[in-house]
Amino acid sequence: SSSLIVGLVGGGTVGGGVYDIVEHTHKDFFRSLGAHVQVKRIAVRNLTKQRDFSVAAHTELVGDWRLVLDDPEINTVIEVMGGITEAKEVVFGAIAKGKHVITANKALLAAYLPEIVDLLKKHPQVKLGYEAAVCGGIPIIHTLQNDYLGDQVSQILGIMNGTTNFMLTKMESGADYGQVLAEAQALGYAEADPTADVEGHDVQAKIALLAKLAFGVHVPSDQIPTKGISSVASVDFEYARLLNATIKLLGMAQLSPDGKKLSVAVSPFIVPREHPIAGTNGSTNIVNISSRNLVSSSYIGPGAGRYPTANSIVSDLVRLARGLVGPPFPVDRAMPLEPDYTSRFYIR
Ligand code: NAP
Ligand code: HSE
Repeated sequence: SSSLIVGLVGGGTVGGGVYDIVEHTHKDFFRSLGAHVQVKRIAVRNLTKQRDFSVAAHTELVGDWRLVLDDPEINTVIEVMGGITEAKEVVFGAIAKGKHVITANKALLAAYLPEIVDLLKKHPQVKLGYEAAVCGGIPIIHTLQNDYLGDQVSQILGIMNGTTNFMLTKMESGADYGQVLAEAQALGYAEADPTADVEGHDVQAKIALLAKLAFGVHVPSDQIPTKGISSVASVDFEYARLLNATIKLLGMAQLSPDGKKLSVAVSPFIVPREHPIAGTNGSTNIVNISSRNLVSSSYIGPGAGRYPTANSIVSDLVRLARGLVGPPFPVDRAMPLEPDYTSRFYIR
């Protein structure tokens, strides 16, 4: 039976949910798998802050993530602290020490994708899980890592940010931008710095990861034209209404018709009412995948928030306990990138 001694780096929205599931609601399930799973340490920034989850006696709350990396008994690090500076030290340090890593950090993965892949090659026994990094609770990473390997994807299109979809949904009925952003923050949907959400950088990182999975191509962020929702005004919704449409912030990655070039973009799009994307509201996300065998499939679900995101982390943990984690990016390909596709703001 496997033994996963976990160091949780971050005890906020996502970390608290992970702890609650692993140590409270799902303890018996892990036992039934024959797996011993225990969170030994939780690293946070502020040790005196009141936590909204109860910490068991066997778990030590520490104020420095190095105490997680330096503990030889901890063989699995769950990084849910965010940012790309210290989180990079956590993830790279853990891999270098031979510890498995599960992370929700799309910004870090997208920024250092080639470096992470290289480091993992040097530590082939280390597994990396990142289901939580894209679209919160939707199991889109495992789906692309496994279920499309016999297919040929031609396009990925969807709503990949819960905060901005929540905002756009409310703004359509006249709500104030600042007020709905504050609401999304209070609900735990937004990034620590919500600029990443509203300016489209969060979707940029997510579509880069999905493009790597679906097409095998590493797309650097400076190759992804990105526009967020900060310039969307109520008059835009009025125009959209005249077209029997609405406005959604979409991530898109698509092959050229000859299959030889890839274009990736993030932008607000005008979406006709009858399209399933138009009816995806609130913090819900949707990813539509066009492919040769499956033609068109949509994956819809909660895109952000404590338990949906924690569920994705726990799902990686279960796979790890069962020895089911495969290569993080199973396909490698090089392909020229078409720098801009944002001239098409309207989807059919
Ligand atoms: P959060 O609520 O702000 O929690 C961050 C946690 O990390 C806090 O417990 C904080 O400690 C701790 N932390 C921050 N800097 C630290 C440092 N230098 N040393 C030790 N601990 C540190 O953030 P979150 O919403 O859980 O998000 C965490 C990650 O999950 C991010 O990468 C985010 O992109 C990703 N994610 C979030 C969601 C979501 O819906 N929230 C969904 C998918 C992915 P204190 O509590 O002491 O401040
Ligand atoms: N801030 C992100 C969002 C969290 O709102 O979608 C989920 O990745």
